[in-house]
Amino acid sequence: MKRIGLLTSGGDAPGMNAAIRAVVRSGLYFGMQVYGIERGYAGLIEDKVMPLEMRSVSNIVQLGGTKLRTARCLEMLTKEGQKQAVQTLEKHGIDGLVVIGGDGSFRGAKILSDEYGVPTIGIPGTIDNDLEYTDYTLGFDTAVNTCLDIINKLRDTMTSHERVSVVEVMGRHCGDIALFSGIASGAEIIVVPEIKFDMDEIINRINRSRANGKHSNIIVVAEGVMGADDFARQLQEKTAYSVRPTCIGHVQRGGSPSMADRMLAAQFGNKAVRLLNDGIGNRAVGIRDNKIIDMDIIEAVSMKKTFNLELYETLQMISM
Ligand code: F6P
Repeated sequence: MKRIGLLTSGGDAPGMNAAIRAVVRSGLYFGMQVYGIERGYAGLIEDKVMPLEMRSVSNIVQLGGTKLRTARCLEMLTKEGQKQAVQTLEKHGIDGLVVIGGDGSFRGAKILSDEYGVPTIGIPGTIDNDLEYTDYTLGFDTAVNTCLDIINKLRDTMTSHERVSVVEVMGRHCGDIALFSGIASGAEIIVVPEIKFDMDEIINRINRSRANGKHSNIIVVAEGVMGADDFARQLQEKTAYSVRPTCIGHVQRGGSPSMADRMLAAQFGNKAVRLLNDGIGNRAVGIRDNKIIDMDIIEAVSMKKTFNLELYETLQMISM
């Protein structure tokens, strides 16, 4: 393995730059040439390839976003797009690829591995934490911390005005951002796609907390259920409390990565290159029970995400 390519794909996530750095530096350590591909699979199809050196990745470990930029690329789902992507790899003599992205990006990696024989390693980079095979995806921790910062501020003003705050967080079809930011911020209620909600039960919970002396309430709603505006409107129709919606939006995708995400980035990036250096491809790296693991990329993308019911019950028991 002499030349490896590296791309970031799908929605960006804090820690992607730290992972780029780890891949480049680890590759150079093993005597490889490392090529960065701009704009994800779109750049691979359009031949946006450049060599990355030691200093190309200086001073980026602390930066949010992705230096390589990213895109969601529908062309990669077509045979024509896939063939062009493989042609670009062949043109530059790239014989191994690291893909940093979410499950959509992993599917592209799976196609390259499976159908075109390109040894590919997937690094899970998405704020959504929606991949079952790994306990955490890169960017999730920072995104949750950003949500916490905003929810803390909302709590201040909601308490002053004795209001109910409905906060919408991202996560696509996964409720993990809502679950973790709900527990860690002391939100009284979370609403996630994995569990059916009952507005009357939510109002009962608010009533109980007010009877217990609480002056405000935070309801964290995952975007996979509905938007904050709609949820707040539905709630307001049934209650006399003053309800205010806030959509955190893309703010939660930016910002300097947390320590946890930088550590994941270093370990995921390094592991990906170690695998390629050992001639092993078609794997996804991850973390399970605090250990860095790798598994078959096809198996990794086909595992169905489960929801942590015990954590959900914990919130119900301790936030009131
Ligand atoms: O996958 C990351 C994510 O931020 C999701 O949480 C969200 O649903 C989606 O991307 C938003 O995508 P876009 O930035 O394309 O609007």
